[in-house]
Amino acid sequence: MTTVEPRGGATEAGGRAAVLRTEDVAVHFGGIKAVDGIDLALEQGRILGILGPNGSGKSTLLAAITRLVPLTRGRLLLDGEDYGRTPPSRLAHRGIARTFQTVRLLPELTVLGNIQLGADLRRSRSERLRELVRRDVPAAVREAVERTGLGDLLDLFPGELSYGTARRVEIARALASRPRVLMLDEPTAGMNQPERLEVAGLLRRLRDEGLTQLLVEHDVQMMVDTCDRLLAMNQGLPIAEGAPADVVRDPAVQEAYLGKRWNRAGDR
Ligand SMILES: Nc1ncnc2c1ncn2[C@@H]1O[C@H](COP(=O)(O)OP(=O)(O)OP(=O)(O)O)[C@@H](O)[C@H]1O
Ligand SMILES: [Mg+2]
Repeated sequence: MTTVEPRGGATEAGGRAAVLRTEDVAVHFGGIKAVDGIDLALEQGRILGILGPNGSGKSTLLAAITRLVPLTRGRLLLDGEDYGRTPPSRLAHRGIARTFQTVRLLPELTVLGNIQLGADLRRSRSERLRELVRRDVPAAVREAVERTGLGDLLDLFPGELSYGTARRVEIARALASRPRVLMLDEPTAGMNQPERLEVAGLLRRLRDEGLTQLLVEHDVQMMVDTCDRLLAMNQGLPIAEGAPADVVRDPAVQEAYLGKRWNRAGDR
């Protein structure tokens, strides 16, 4: 696989190269069509947001892209190359990292230990041993700590952290694998408004540094303020795609949320 950043070639409407794309991706669980034909393109250095009511297939789509569930149909492409058979454990090596909808930190490891796990995904055993002997903190871990502002909390255990901080540690862990593409499934769920704004600011800064992101969130205002493009889903299908302000005004999107609350700050 090429390590050259894609420039030119398969460009999107916006003129940017697509780092990752899906073609007609479907995931069915028996009769449930959780995802049923999604084409998306993650453009270099942009944030694509996925919006949709509960159960519309957002997390399943992320699971498909990160190879945690098998595809019923469709293709997954990274730099134009099919990675549909790459095991999930190898995705970090190809530059794909993710966080989950629920906090998944190891309770017996400190904040630093948890972040280090992200770096371990991408380093060889000999590198890890060398660091252990020298008690080195890998540069990727130091960077991730700095970017997420967790420097003062490294010795704490997950049980001692606020919910918002725990989620920031997860983002740091994902960053420690030095991804090219970061996927975030509701990174601000359960956070208060200041924490949400802080995370949104962090994602925008990472984007400005060139990190390509896929963001699933229910907070519509945050999505409009943070994403470069939005894809709205309902019942596994795409219902609108484009500039964030247009997508949230789209009648099909409004209809999909009709009778349901727009999940706002602190919701869920
Ligand atoms: N492993 C599974 N087995 C069977 N059905 C599943 C499985 N995972 C998800 N589903 C179903 O697929 C549909 C989509 O679920 P998914 O979790 O992807 O939705 P979502 O958009 O992430 O919802 P939320 O906003 O609540 O997180 C739902 O009907 C769900 O019950
Ligand atoms: Mg979900």
